[in-house]
Amino acid sequence: MHIHRYEKVWLIIGSLILLIFLTILAIQTFFLEMGPPSHAETIDPQTVRDSEMFADAGLKEVGENEYEIAIIAEMFAFQPGDLEIPAGATVHFTLASPDVTHGFKITDTNVNVMVVPGHISKVSHTFDEPGDYLILCNEYCGLGHEYMASTITVNSQ
Ligand code: CUA
Repeated sequence: MHIHRYEKVWLIIGSLILLIFLTILAIQTFFLEMGPPSHAETIDPQTVRDSEMFADAGLKEVGENEYEIAIIAEMFAFQPGDLEIPAGATVHFTLASPDVTHGFKITDTNVNVMVVPGHISKVSHTFDEPGDYLILCNEYCGLGHEYMASTITVNSQ
């Protein structure tokens, strides 16, 4: 079979590009651990409200200006809602949904996770700048989706 010289060149370039992208993907997944944390921790959506992890909701101090909080994302609110922390605080969020898929986005930060029923989502953030941070649900979850929001107030020390 005769393959035109130009066709050969493009086949080689195309294969090389594919190889480069797959190599980058492999490095991100296996060495930088940037793969999605699928199935890391699961929870039966029907037990979210009664589970020990989410029952006693509220900020827990776990270190020097370091906090943990378990938040239920449900139609159409975050429980607990508004939070207050001192500037510089690191907060470890644990999230779950008892109903449908919600989003957990904190504006002006890199925090943006999906809260999928059946799964526990975890994300941490250090709030260096004082101010009010809006938490939004950014996954359409029903008629009250637009009201699903709360605030983190970061007080200056
Ligand atoms: Cu919850 Cu949209």
